[in-house]
Amino acid sequence: MRQVSLRQSWIGRIRLALTIVGLPYAVCKPETRLQLSSSSARSFIYSRAATECVDTPYINTLRTMSSSVAPPPHLKSRCQPYPGSQIKRFPVPDDKVDWGQVWAQYSPVHHTDAVVAKRPTWADPDIGEFSPRFNSVDGGVDRTSFQGEYEVVQAAPLNPRGRTGLAGRGLLGRWGPNHAADPIVTRWKVDAQGQQVTHPGSERPVLQFISIKRKDCGEWAIPGGMVDPGEVVSLTLQREFSEEALNSLSVPAAKRATIHQCITKLFTSPGFQVYRGYVDDPRNTDNAWMETVAVNFHDETGNSVSGLPLQAGDDAGEVTWVDVDSSFPLYASHSHFLETVAKERHAHW
Ligand code: BGC
Repeated sequence: MRQVSLRQSWIGRIRLALTIVGLPYAVCKPETRLQLSSSSARSFIYSRAATECVDTPYINTLRTMSSSVAPPPHLKSRCQPYPGSQIKRFPVPDDKVDWGQVWAQYSPVHHTDAVVAKRPTWADPDIGEFSPRFNSVDGGVDRTSFQGEYEVVQAAPLNPRGRTGLAGRGLLGRWGPNHAADPIVTRWKVDAQGQQVTHPGSERPVLQFISIKRKDCGEWAIPGGMVDPGEVVSLTLQREFSEEALNSLSVPAAKRATIHQCITKLFTSPGFQVYRGYVDDPRNTDNAWMETVAVNFHDETGNSVSGLPLQAGDDAGEVTWVDVDSSFPLYASHSHFLETVAKERHAHW
């Protein structure tokens, strides 16, 4: 663990030095938020190989945001109480989040939710009852992290962003990374005459995105979801969008085919990869955490997405178009993703 923190601080110092002298650093860190120069919208083509440093053809067009030099200590991952329970996490101050800080008194609460302990298909057995291959694609289950190699201590994987005050899996099914995908479907906001609406404050055009109200916590969110074992992320993006925003699971097969037809064009259009990496999610624990790939599919004319028959389904209680605006509170890290989209598209934020 000590080795890890020494290595991280060494890399951090080099990055900081390069940033101070104004040079973009080329150490490829998956979670780094990538900002594309406006003329270079990059197609979203994702495969396992994309988790490695394969952005080489685009490397000259990428700019890294200075805020990515040292990510702030996770906050939602230390929230009290743990979601879906009255359980209080062991309080972790900011300066003790890093595993590299020796803290003999640390005594995290152990918690694995009863739903997870019942072993639904999406959950792992307990440590000791199976032999997962961490840091690799294990059968159909992807146990690699966008953050790079994570530590496994006493057979349990360690959260790469540090302590959370809670050991076990909580509400998460997988030990280690739990992979999700977030489709951000956008269009420009128009008035009754079809003219683009400009925000009076920022004087920038307003974007809208399709948002769902999550049933589990009542918060507004991107209609994302978990990557199924063996599933490619591009498919998860389309499947989750259909299930949550178009209720595809509950419509007759014929209508499902129409929905599929209607959105396939959108989801096979070049998307803008907004983010991939660790998510500061309230369900995170010391041994299980969320990671996601967020991709923006934008309809410039609005002609194809405006006609989508929005209907909440699966984990979603409501679905609607929402203005992209910094004041609108969103689940987990979703606001950060939308901020990146707004900046990329020169829209109001
Ligand atoms: C959600 C995603 C979210 C991820 C991490 C998943 O359960 O469906 O929208 O980005 O968790 O918070």
